[in-house]
Amino acid sequence: MKKILVTGGNKGIGLAIVQKILETENEAFVYMGSRSIDRGDASRNNLLKQNSSFKGRIEVLPLDVSNDHSVTEAFKIVDKRCRADGKKLYGIVNNAGVMMEDSALEDVLQVNVYGIYRVSNKFIPLMDEEKGRIVNITSAAGPSFVSTCSEKQKDFLVSSDISWESLESFMDKCIDLRKSGGDFSREGLGDGPCYGLSKAIANTLTLNMAKIYPKLKINACTPGFIETDMTRPMAKAWGKTPEEAGMKEPSFGTVAPVFLLFDDSVGHGDYYGSDALRSPIDRYRSPGTPPFTNKY
Ligand SMILES: NC(=O)c1ccc[n+]([C@@H]2O[C@H](COP(=O)([O-])OP(=O)(O)OC[C@H]3O[C@@H](n4cnc5c(N)ncnc54)[C@H](OP(=O)(O)O)[C@@H]3O)[C@@H](O)[C@H]2O)c1
Repeated sequence: MKKILVTGGNKGIGLAIVQKILETENEAFVYMGSRSIDRGDASRNNLLKQNSSFKGRIEVLPLDVSNDHSVTEAFKIVDKRCRADGKKLYGIVNNAGVMMEDSALEDVLQVNVYGIYRVSNKFIPLMDEEKGRIVNITSAAGPSFVSTCSEKQKDFLVSSDISWESLESFMDKCIDLRKSGGDFSREGLGDGPCYGLSKAIANTLTLNMAKIYPKLKINACTPGFIETDMTRPMAKAWGKTPEEAGMKEPSFGTVAPVFLLFDDSVGHGDYYGSDALRSPIDRYRSPGTPPFTNKY
């Protein structure tokens, strides 16, 4: 049995990943992380209506990734289950994310970066040390952001030697800069200094995690441009339908994450495009173009 935790599993890409995992692996069991039990239960019940073989293979796990207490309580539940059935956790999909370009940078970082750090560090002790996998759902907004940074900031954001402590002080500096109305471009920090910045840091964190846990397979990927509650307002603002805006349906967003969970050929500490091919973290790579082959 492969037990997999998917954060933010109650809707959008996370929900599609939950469904795809259960369809792909007959032996998979999913902890559907959801910060609202009601929304999680409703989504689980919908999945069960669609496919009766999912019965007994999904547990809704109350989990707010921005809250230490919530993560600890979720850990206690999964720990108890793992002790009871003697099974380790096979995978974590750090999918929960927010995109609020206008809101406080710290709120976005708390979910998109600290959420990954908090959940991974808490749950890694429950993981299968030899086979365990972590998939961080970041975004092409990360590499696109880095491509607009100064060479100095680029070097920082693509280094696999950056510690969590350095990343934290970098985030603190960015939060202070934002609060004081400072000029990000003067600091060599490029376009999209909220969501894009958070996803760039999440990619750097993936490099750092891969170094710390060499036996696990830890990678990041973008799901692609997918129609969800997060992106629908963008299409509306552009006066287009989601399809006209180039958005794909949520099942398309599962290709890279599910590949990273189960395929034998996946790397470690790498970032993948929505076509499940390796991509650089300092510039955008279009799906369909040759994969990135260097190592950071
Ligand atoms: N859609 C795209 O085109 C696209 C592109 C690149 C990357 N991504 C990334 O893909 C991931 C999923 O996004 P999506 O498009 O599916 O967005 P979505 O439909 O808005 O879903 C986001 C999910 O994250 C959850 N979430 C938000 N804050 C949370 C928190 N503090 N704790 C736990 N869960 C939390 C939400 O829960 P609630 O229901 O409680 O709000 C929801 O389940 C995100 O990391 C996003 O950045 C999306």
